[in-house]
Amino acid sequence: MEQSQGFRASDLIQTILAVLVLGTVSLRVVECKVHSSVPDALHYRAINCRKHSALLTDFGAVGDGKTLNTKAFKAAIDSLSKYASEGGAQLIVPPGKWLTGSFNLTSSHFTLFLHKDAVILASQDEAEWPLVPALPSYGRGRDGNGDGRFSSLIFGTNLTDIIITGNNGTIDGQGQYWWDKFHQGQFNVTRPYMIEIQYSNKIQISNLTLINSPSWFVHPTYSSDVLIHGLTILAPIDSPNTDGIDPDSCTNTRIEDCFVVSGDDCIAVKSGWDQYGIKFGMPTKHLIIRRLTCISPDSATIALGSEMSGGIQDVRAEDITAINTQSGIRIKTAIGRGAYVKDIYVRRMTLTTMKWVFWMSGSYNQHPDPNFDPKAFPEIKGINYRDIVATNVTGAARLEGIAQDHFTGICISNVTISLSKTPKELQWNCTNIAGVTSNVTPEPCHLLPKKEKVDCAFPEDRLPIEDVHLKTCSTMKTA
Ligand SMILES: *[C@@H]1O[C@H](CO)[C@@H](O)[C@H](O)[C@H]1NC(C)=O
Ligand SMILES: *[C@@H]1O[C@H](CO)[C@@H](O)[C@H](O)[C@H]1NC(C)=O
Ligand SMILES: *[C@@H]1O[C@H](CO)[C@@H](O)[C@H](O)[C@H]1NC(C)=O
Ligand SMILES: *[C@@H]1O[C@H](CO)[C@@H](O)[C@H](O)[C@H]1NC(C)=O
Ligand SMILES: *[C@@H]1O[C@H](CO)[C@@H](O)[C@H](O)[C@H]1NC(C)=O
Ligand SMILES: *[C@@H]1O[C@H](CO)[C@@H](O)[C@H](O)[C@H]1NC(C)=O
Ligand SMILES: *[C@@H]1O[C@H](CO)[C@@H](O)[C@H](O)[C@H]1NC(C)=O
Ligand SMILES: *[C@@H]1O[C@H](CO)[C@@H](O)[C@H](O)[C@H]1NC(C)=O
Repeated sequence: MEQSQGFRASDLIQTILAVLVLGTVSLRVVECKVHSSVPDALHYRAINCRKHSALLTDFGAVGDGKTLNTKAFKAAIDSLSKYASEGGAQLIVPPGKWLTGSFNLTSSHFTLFLHKDAVILASQDEAEWPLVPALPSYGRGRDGNGDGRFSSLIFGTNLTDIIITGNNGTIDGQGQYWWDKFHQGQFNVTRPYMIEIQYSNKIQISNLTLINSPSWFVHPTYSSDVLIHGLTILAPIDSPNTDGIDPDSCTNTRIEDCFVVSGDDCIAVKSGWDQYGIKFGMPTKHLIIRRLTCISPDSATIALGSEMSGGIQDVRAEDITAINTQSGIRIKTAIGRGAYVKDIYVRRMTLTTMKWVFWMSGSYNQHPDPNFDPKAFPEIKGINYRDIVATNVTGAARLEGIAQDHFTGICISNVTISLSKTPKELQWNCTNIAGVTSNVTPEPCHLLPKKEKVDCAFPEDRLPIEDVHLKTCSTMKTA
C-alpha cells in the first residue's frame, strides 16, 4: 500500500517543496514568468520537458475536421527533428478537429501535446495509411491472410524519450469504417492500431482520451521504460479487436489510472505468436498495472496472451475494478506457443457482473499458419491472485490446463465471490492444473486444496519504472 501510493505521495511532497521554495526564495521571478508567458500556457507532467515548441498551425494545418493535415503533421515533425540533440521539441495540437492519415514520430526527445479541445481525427481513406510489414514476432498480420498491415495512426520506431500527452485532448480513430469492412471479410491486410511505438525506450503516453480505434489502441512493442497513465479509452462494446493497451515484448512498463470501455480485452499482455514469437524471443516482463477500470462484457479485464511466445514474466496488477466484463484475469495459450507465463501477481480486484472471475485457456488454438511446433508447450506457473471481491458472477473459475503440460503453482487467497441469479452448476471447472487456495468462497475444486492462512505472494521490491520522476513542463513557447 505504501508502494502503490508512492507516486501520489511523491507528487504531493514535490508540490509542497515547490511551493515552499518558490514562496520563500523567488516570488519576483515567478511574477516575471507569469507576465511573460503566453496567456494560454498549459502545464503538464512528463518524464522530460522540451526546450523548443511549435504549433501545428505553424505548418499550415487547418482544424476544420475536413482538411487533410497529414502533410502538416509530417512537416511539423520533420522541422522539429533538428532539435532532438538541442533540448528536444514539442508539437502542440491546438483546439480544433485535425483530420490526418497515419504519421510517424521520427526523432527522439519529442513530445506531441494535445490541448483539451484538440481532436486528432483519423482519416478513413486507406491511401492515407501506408502498408508496413508484419511484426517479426507475429510472422503475419492479425487480420486476414495477407502479410502486411496498415501503419498505425501514430507510429514511431527506434526512438528514445518520446511523449504523447495532453490535458485530456482526444484522438478519434473513426473506427466504424474499418470495423464494417472487417466484419464483411474485406481485408487481406491487418487494420491499423491507434498508437504503436516499437524498438524504443523512455515512452510516456498519458492524459488523453482515445476513442474508436480501428483495432488495438495503444501498442508499445520491443520497448522498455514505458509509462502509460490517465488514459480514457472508449470504443463500442461490440467493436472488433479494440484492445485498450497491449504491452508486447516490453520490459519495465507502468500502466496507471486508465479507464477502458471496449470490445476486446482492456489490457492484453503479449509477446509474439507461435514459431515467430519463439524465434524473436523477447518477453514482456516487469509490468505494473494499477488502478485500472474496465468495462468489456465479452472480454477480459486483463488478458495474458494469447500471443505469449516470447514469454510473460513478473506482472504486478493491483486495485483493479471491472464493472461488466467476461472475466477478471484470463490466461490464453495453446500448444505451439512455447515460452511461459510465470510470476504473475494480482491483488485487490473489485469485480461486478462477469462470466468467470478466473479463466485459463490452454486450447486457444489460433495459429499464424500450420507450421507451428506441436511440441512447443507453454509453461504456466506461479500465478498468484488475492484479496478479491466479485459479485453477480456466473462461474468462479474455469481453469483449463493442457493434458501433457499442467499449469502449476496457482495460488488463490482471500477471495469472496457472490453468484448471479443463474449461476453455473459447476463453479470451479478445473482440468490439468495444480495449486492451493485459502479463504476462498465458493468452495474451490479439489485440484486447488484448501490451506490455512496462506496469503498468496505479491512482491515487496520496487521496479525501476516506479522511481521514474515526472517534471512539470509548460507548453509556452521559448523566445
Ligand atoms: C513510417 O515509417 C515506416 C518505416 O518505419 C514507413 O514504412 C512508413 O511509410 C512511414 N509512414 C509515413 C506516413 O511516412
Ligand atoms: C531499429 O532497431 C532494431 C533493433 O535494434 C534494428 O533491428 C532495426 O534495424 C532498427 N531500425 C531502424 C530503422 O533503425
Ligand atoms: C477526459 O475526458 C473523458 C471524456 O470526455 C472524461 O470521461 C474523463 O473524465 C476526462 N478525464 C479527466 C482526467 O478529466
Ligand atoms: C487484397 O485485396 C485487394 C482488393 O480487396 C486486392 O486487389 C489485392 O490483390 C489483395 N492482395 C492479396 C495479397 O491478396
Ligand atoms: C494527468 O494525469 C494525472 C494522473 O491521471 C493527473 O494527476 C494529472 O493532474 C493530469 N494532468 C496533467 C496536466 O498532467
Ligand atoms: C447481473 O448479471 C446479469 C448477467 O449475468 C445482468 O443481466 C444483470 O443486470 C446483473 N445485475 C446487476 C445487479 O448488476
Ligand atoms: C481480503 O480482501 C479484502 C478485499 O480486497 C480486503 O479488504 C481485506 O483486507 C483482505 N483480508 C486480508 C486478511 O488480507
Ligand atoms: C469444463 O471445462 C471444459 C474445458 O476446460 C469443458 O470442455 C467442459 O464442458 C466444462 N464443463 C462444464 C460442466 O462446464
